[in-house]
Amino acid sequence: MDKLSITGGAQLRGRLRVSGAKNAALPILAGTLLTDEPVTISNAPHLHDVTTMLELLGCLGAQVAVDEKLNVEVTAKNLTELLAPYELVKTMRASFLVLGPLVAKYGAAEVSLPGGCAIGSRPVDQHLKGLEALGAAVEVKDGYVKARAANGLVGAEVYMDLVTVGGTENLMMAACLAKGTTRLHNCACEPEIVDLGNFLATLGADISGYGTPTIEIHGVSKMSGGQHRIMPDRIEAGTYLIAAAATGGSIKLVDVDARTLGALLEKLQQAGAQITVGDDWVELDMHGARPIAVDIETSPYPGFPTDMQAQFMALNSIAQGTSTIRENIFENRFMHVQEMNRLGANIELHGHSMAVVHGVDELRAAPVMATDLRASSSLVIAALAAQGTTTIDRIYHIDRGYETIEEKLQQIGGAVQRVS
Ligand code: UD1
Repeated sequence: MDKLSITGGAQLRGRLRVSGAKNAALPILAGTLLTDEPVTISNAPHLHDVTTMLELLGCLGAQVAVDEKLNVEVTAKNLTELLAPYELVKTMRASFLVLGPLVAKYGAAEVSLPGGCAIGSRPVDQHLKGLEALGAAVEVKDGYVKARAANGLVGAEVYMDLVTVGGTENLMMAACLAKGTTRLHNCACEPEIVDLGNFLATLGADISGYGTPTIEIHGVSKMSGGQHRIMPDRIEAGTYLIAAAATGGSIKLVDVDARTLGALLEKLQQAGAQITVGDDWVELDMHGARPIAVDIETSPYPGFPTDMQAQFMALNSIAQGTSTIRENIFENRFMHVQEMNRLGANIELHGHSMAVVHGVDELRAAPVMATDLRASSSLVIAALAAQGTTTIDRIYHIDRGYETIEEKLQQIGGAVQRVS
């Protein structure tokens, strides 16, 4: 099993291109199921999760081709299967996003329940409640969700009980082909939702309000083919910004949209970073200084993203002062704490949702283990800031979300090697 070997202590410096966003690519690839015509997706990141989604589309009978520029062309005509098997859904929760498009277009689908997950129970009740509101008969049996709408979905008012990114995406896609008007209320407003909305509009959906809490969709009878470029990955971008800040370095990221990074950039400034932004770039300079501890609290967009909580904790662990970190989205998202403490951090947990981080002068290398995707990247940041050589085990988690992480870090001066 691959490991990362990281010798810390060097300030990260240089320029990096940000990859396409995993969390936009996955729903958009699921959305290709809404049309018979070819759809071309560019800037999809080369990641394990994206390969899993392409495999799932292939299992359903879609034609999937990747050209020499890594553009993905999907033609989802004459599907042979309307079933997403457990083997694929269990490895990636986002596989559940094929449910909405399949029921909307084919009137039936069977998708395995995603089940438990390392960072919390993560139910799908809001996805199902919304589909029922659109007229689907939904049954949960033998670990599978079976949804039927033989005469098609029908537009409705849908109120989500909580803000869910995946729920909003599944229902946006389902409503595109429903008869009449759907209004989705209490929607997630994440930039990835906006990217999905733009993609659906390109395919001929009559959709507005995405990026706000209320999305209105007038169903169309058929959607067309088209081309779409995936937005830059704000979580990858944020991870490299925090890594540079934790090492006292400076970095310029290109192919990034600074507007999607607002809450993080503000916290990085409070931590002492000088931030400069342009149309498609962001620059961070710590001028060699040790970061200052900053309190953070996660919340739905435009609040501080839960997907950047662990990485910011790594920064706070070597910062000057004490900070609190409150996790409000997932109930079990502090698994990195134990591993960071092995590196010499001083972090106390108060229940499931609050951590108090006492900044230490120095972290020291130790063998550690990656537990989930973003926790893994937080350990990479801590190792880059630590004295000595740290080995991080189980890095397959990192490969789900970070394209060629060791090459990118080497490019900015990180002493990082993949070892088996
Ligand atoms: C997406 C992101 C993930 C990010 C998360 C929150 C993708 C592929 N993944 O995950 O990286 O961490 O948003 O920003 O885009 N919930 C329910 N019922 C539901 C649905 C969700 O109770 O039907 C709860 C979840 O358990 C969780 C919270 O709502 O506590 C947020 O989940 P959600 O926004 O749906 O996350 P995902 O779409 O799974």
